[in-house]
Amino acid sequence: MSSQIDHLLNETRHFAPSREFVAQAVAGADLYDRAKVDREGFWAEQARELLHWHKPFTEVLDWSNPPFAQWFADGELNVSYNCLDRHVEAGNGDRVALLWEGEPGDDRRVTYAELTDEVKRLANVLEGLGIGHGDRVAIYMPMIPEAVAAMLAVARVGAIHSVVFGGFSADSLRARIDDAGARLVITADGGWRKGKVSPLKPAVDQALADRGSGPQESVEHVIVVKRGENEVAWVEGRDLWWHDVVPAASADHTAQPFPAENPLFILYTSGTTGKPKGILHTSGGYLTQATFTNRVVHDIHPETDVYWCTADIGWITGHSYVTYGPLANGATQVLYEGTPETPHPGRWWEVIEKYGVSVFYTAPTAIRSFMKLGRQIPQSFDLSSVRVLGSVGEPINPEAWVWYRDVIGEDRAPIVDTWWQTETGAIMISALPGVTVTKPGAAQVAVPGISVDVVDEAGEHVGTGNGGLLVITEPWPSMLRGIWGDPERFVETYWEKFADKGFYFAGDGARLDEDGDVWLMGRVDDVMNVSGHRLSTAEIESSLVAHEATAEAAVVGASDETTGQAVVAFVILKESFLKAHTPDGLAAQLRSWVGEQIGPIARPRDIYIVSELPKTRSGKIMRRLLRDVAEGREVGDTTTLADTAVMSVISAQVK
Ligand code: WT7
Repeated sequence: MSSQIDHLLNETRHFAPSREFVAQAVAGADLYDRAKVDREGFWAEQARELLHWHKPFTEVLDWSNPPFAQWFADGELNVSYNCLDRHVEAGNGDRVALLWEGEPGDDRRVTYAELTDEVKRLANVLEGLGIGHGDRVAIYMPMIPEAVAAMLAVARVGAIHSVVFGGFSADSLRARIDDAGARLVITADGGWRKGKVSPLKPAVDQALADRGSGPQESVEHVIVVKRGENEVAWVEGRDLWWHDVVPAASADHTAQPFPAENPLFILYTSGTTGKPKGILHTSGGYLTQATFTNRVVHDIHPETDVYWCTADIGWITGHSYVTYGPLANGATQVLYEGTPETPHPGRWWEVIEKYGVSVFYTAPTAIRSFMKLGRQIPQSFDLSSVRVLGSVGEPINPEAWVWYRDVIGEDRAPIVDTWWQTETGAIMISALPGVTVTKPGAAQVAVPGISVDVVDEAGEHVGTGNGGLLVITEPWPSMLRGIWGDPERFVETYWEKFADKGFYFAGDGARLDEDGDVWLMGRVDDVMNVSGHRLSTAEIESSLVAHEATAEAAVVGASDETTGQAVVAFVILKESFLKAHTPDGLAAQLRSWVGEQIGPIARPRDIYIVSELPKTRSGKIMRRLLRDVAEGREVGDTTTLADTAVMSVISAQVK
């Protein structure tokens, strides 16, 4: 492995937790010791301590039919009861659950008692429509309190939700409704996005229109929240206004217990090719790990913290760290409807100041775009309430990590870089903020009770200082239970590669540093091979972004006659540098910069200066499309892009 290039591993800055932080931290190092002694016993203890079981479980893990796991299988619980009623019964009904901020600046505070009341009414409405155990309900909503209530009401009656991100098209919505055979859709007229109302109901109408025979006939009703006040078409008998049916329903509703393995939700991953995968999660194990990790990784003190996870409920982060984890913990959280830059680029920092946010969880792509705008913007707001910062979704380059800590954390708040996936359901690899000495750019260690490794193609541990494939070596409570309707694809995608070892193959490349800490290197499909040298896109991007002229960068491996693959970079430059230099001059500078930083082999063959990068709605760069451009092919399927026009802009700039 000596040919591997270790730019990221040369990162030597370390940050130990402060004495004050350690003194108040929820989790200490003893958690690792306890989990090591008895892993299953450890999870059983978390499940009993953190959740209410209507019927206590006696079995912990059933792994007799791998990879189909069952956790706490003979136990019974109600997920919605755990997120709502029990807090009210414990006397915390007046605690604010949701501090909701609309994009135009309207706001609402919803207490646990109020949210419980709303969910009970909606649960009665659902049951009145015949929705119950095992039925599928599609949720297509903006970030408003009703969206959270909808998820919890579906869970409460034992049905299965499939949340579809509000930015998805009618076609994507239709595909997801059909695959799951949803009987009900819960939506809104529209929601606020980028300064205007973005309609939702018309997309639902379109998704349900022109239907022949088939599973799409499944939808019987559509419940519509009035939010955008935009005009909507109405199908009598099918469509119901939330404000007509929910307030009129009874607020008495007793949560029935369901088995721990009762399906809780299906969530489709935006997948790179082909049909989206409906990732299936169940109840007891999922809620245990989401609640546990939210508590110990984000260091949640429910009585005092104001927590804010910026993810949309359309993604797994919004499921586990907006709806389920924080509410099961009884936390108070901000729910923000709009985009970060509307109506002004300081909007998020204004929200932190307004609500006194203490725990903040966001994605590297957002951090880098704020970096690009300059530190003066966040620094003009009072961020002194912030005490924990989280990152999720992609590798965070050390420069962005340090900026995040310096500017948003005011050089005080610890950063937790959390690695996990839609499939894992909850955080798997992360620092614990009161325990771990953090390293910029590394997710570092498996959370207590989780076992991961970095292995070679044969499944053998690579040893410290080496790179390989990230695997999860033991079943975990919040693991996916399958792909909806496709058990073979489930086995094939995640379990076949290391079938003899029984490892879960995550699809990510990783390295172990000298301390045995894990550094995520990007998806293995983003790893390049240049003249027989393994290079990571993340590594070169990190180097490019470390240059003062660079705002954002994406790197792909393009096929090359002589070297196998060649490094091709797409770079967005900071305005101020573009004004003072020629693009060609800057590209040349960057090329030699990467050569200096990493080594000549990593020097990009081509650097294209562009004004935008193609991103999915969750903010992931679609390198596949950039590879098409780099290899001079016609650009492939762009339907999962946030802005489908981006590729023609880039193609024009590259020519
Ligand atoms: C993929 C999963 C986890 C919720 C949001 C994304 C990448 C995620 C990190 C991180 C490096 C990360 C991986 C993973 N990823 N978090 N902290 N460091 N990479 O969920 O859409 O299912 O994507 O995101 O490549 O496999 P997702």
